[in-house]
Amino acid sequence: MDNFRFQLNTNLFYGIGSSRNIGKLFNDNKYEYITILIDEGVYKNSKYFDEISAIIKDNSKSLEIVVLRGSEEPDYDYLDEIADKVRSIDKIDVLIGIGGGSCLDVTKAAAGLRTNAGKAVNYRGFDKLINPSIPTIAIPTTAGTGSEVTINASFIDKKEMKKLGINGRFMHAAYAILDAMWTISCPYSVAVSSGMDALTHSLESYMCKQANPITRGFSIEAFRLLYKTLPALADDPDNLEKRQTLLCGSYIAAIGLFNSGSGIAGGFSYPLGVYYGIPHGVGGAIFLPSVIEYNVDKGYRGYDELYDIIEYNKGLSSDEKNIRFVKAIKELSVRLKVPEYLDKWGINKGNVNKVYPLLLPLQGAFDQNPVSFSADVDAPKLLDRHVK
Ligand SMILES: [Fe+2]
Repeated sequence: MDNFRFQLNTNLFYGIGSSRNIGKLFNDNKYEYITILIDEGVYKNSKYFDEISAIIKDNSKSLEIVVLRGSEEPDYDYLDEIADKVRSIDKIDVLIGIGGGSCLDVTKAAAGLRTNAGKAVNYRGFDKLINPSIPTIAIPTTAGTGSEVTINASFIDKKEMKKLGINGRFMHAAYAILDAMWTISCPYSVAVSSGMDALTHSLESYMCKQANPITRGFSIEAFRLLYKTLPALADDPDNLEKRQTLLCGSYIAAIGLFNSGSGIAGGFSYPLGVYYGIPHGVGGAIFLPSVIEYNVDKGYRGYDELYDIIEYNKGLSSDEKNIRFVKAIKELSVRLKVPEYLDKWGINKGNVNKVYPLLLPLQGAFDQNPVSFSADVDAPKLLDRHVK
């Protein structure tokens, strides 16, 4: 790619326990009036939140807390509800989001809606915000979406049954804090879904047509960190250092992703999430090994460099490395117990034909794949591999 733009707008504080220094961040920026948007589960269960909110109270003039519902992915009506709450607060110097990717998406969008009037859906698309957002601090409690560093926020449009976000200008967090202390209470299924989301980001941004030398650097390093550390979610779940590394990997993967493009697995996850409630990360993770296999079958040989990270073997041919790469990703998926089939979400041989049309609008996402993949022929075939 000869012409590209690369942007990275978020300041990062990194490390186990790094949230304890938030008072200095407030002081440096003269943040005195603080509002927190926090996931319900974290608010109720996290002792760490009790500790950090006490530090925030000691270092501010006022603290407002808005608790966000946990489970469901946010839609525009819910975003409006939260934005109205945020708009009604008298003074806010900084809005802090503490939670999973959805919570951080709501935080960034609500920060934009505080300074931009009207319904959230009016800002759907790219660069639709007119006025700069109020500053935000994004603190992820799961390692995965990378919302804390991207310029994207995804919301479901229930009227059109589409997942289309508010993106671009003013949609980045001013600060991100990556602190594994927040991830301890994250349930296994959520941690795996999020972690595999990050792995999907690293691989799809690596192989997509819009990748450039800078994003590739981020994608490769993200893959290295995630591939080596994701098994710890199953084998060593309480290891804080490894949790911290996963936060790092997902952050770096997201930098590669939002500066390049996505692909087939990410694309599939959107309609399956909206219509069948498949969590975004799982949706991508189910299809990722099949997408990689499809590409290698069609002659793509770009995975050599990534296979060298898994196992450096000078004697292997490019063909051999790519074939082994497919196997390695499949094995990782099995090790983490990523489901192979969609029956759990009600998709089976009897009704899969209803899903095919939902894939047709995804041709734009599929066109980012390094080898051609059609929404009308190849997509149903790929879907069928995961239906019984
Ligand atoms: Fe994703």
